[in-house]
Amino acid sequence: MPSRVSSPRFVGRAAELATLDAAVARTAAGQSAAVLLAGDAGIGKSRLVAEFERRAQDAGAEVLVGECVELTEGELPYGPIVAALRPLIGPADDGPIAALHPAVRGALARLWPELADSGGVEQDEFARGQLFEAVHRVLAVLAAERPVVLIIEDLHWADRSTRDLLAFLIRNAPHERVLFVASYRTDEVNRRHPLHQFISELERSGRAERLTVPAFDLFERREQLTGILGEEPDPRLARRLHERSEGNPFFAEELLAAADAGMLPDSLLDALLARVERLTDPARRSPSSASPTLARRRASPTPSGSSRSQPALRTAPGRNDLRPIRDPRRVVRS
Ligand SMILES: Nc1ncnc2c1ncn2[C@@H]1O[C@H](COP(=O)(O)OP(=O)(O)O)[C@@H](O)[C@H]1O
Ligand SMILES: [Mg+2]
Repeated sequence: MPSRVSSPRFVGRAAELATLDAAVARTAAGQSAAVLLAGDAGIGKSRLVAEFERRAQDAGAEVLVGECVELTEGELPYGPIVAALRPLIGPADDGPIAALHPAVRGALARLWPELADSGGVEQDEFARGQLFEAVHRVLAVLAAERPVVLIIEDLHWADRSTRDLLAFLIRNAPHERVLFVASYRTDEVNRRHPLHQFISELERSGRAERLTVPAFDLFERREQLTGILGEEPDPRLARRLHERSEGNPFFAEELLAAADAGMLPDSLLDALLARVERLTDPARRSPSSASPTLARRRASPTPSGSSRSQPALRTAPGRNDLRPIRDPRRVVRS
């Protein structure tokens, strides 16, 4: 069975990129902003973020990215933010960290033990508040040099410490040139999900705007298929894939891989489409696939995007098969 292939050409999203570009411009002008990037699994959040990253860099911003993985016990607190800021932790006499007061560096050593000036790190020596302040200082020092874009992907998987620190940073950076962008899956966040309250509070405070990534329309779907196939798709195939995958780019890729670019008999295509339909419709998912155990299964530590080199539909194209995509140019052609 052929591999799933992504369109090397980035499709659509003009309005969403315009909103994000405008947020960068506001940030560069001295006003912090926060954008919550919402959308179903597979709808194209990571691809949009990757495209935006390049544009923000071209606009002169420092872009820092951290990704949340599905929670397990023993997860490193603040993991995604630590990862996002790690590029700043260079040699001690270099970069924004060097400009910090020793006490602030000391607080940060809880996150990056290599910053400890001497001896081991006293884990309980500093209050959480001091740690939050210290991370805030790092961003402020960096933002004094140039605008900063801090992206946290898949926030629905963030642990409490990450959510609390992010909320603190967003609340306390109104006059710093920092743009926060956090993506999350709308299909994972129901009213009882801890992120629900986080999002509601941020929106109520007026500190964050929500940007929903919509499904592809038929025109965008054709462009996606043209990008994948290298030629215009058969109009009938395009329409059927579009209707049955409900405008979701990931599911269309899966179906197309399985259908081997239209060579599949109609009956089999129908069966595959029906299977995807079940997966996209929570009400029709089987109880086992909706169970918390499955939903919280840890993302495997394979490199991002590696799922695309596996046979399509070898396992059901469930939500957990989606990996963050850091480099959409890394496409696989069968
Ligand atoms: N705008 C786009 N243009 C082309 N392909 C896209 C676009 N958006 C998403 N895709 C493709 O659809 C698949 C799922 O997108 P992804 O960004 O990983 O979804 P999400 O992060 O929302 O789960 C990826 O293979 C991606 O390359
Ligand atoms: Mg993603």
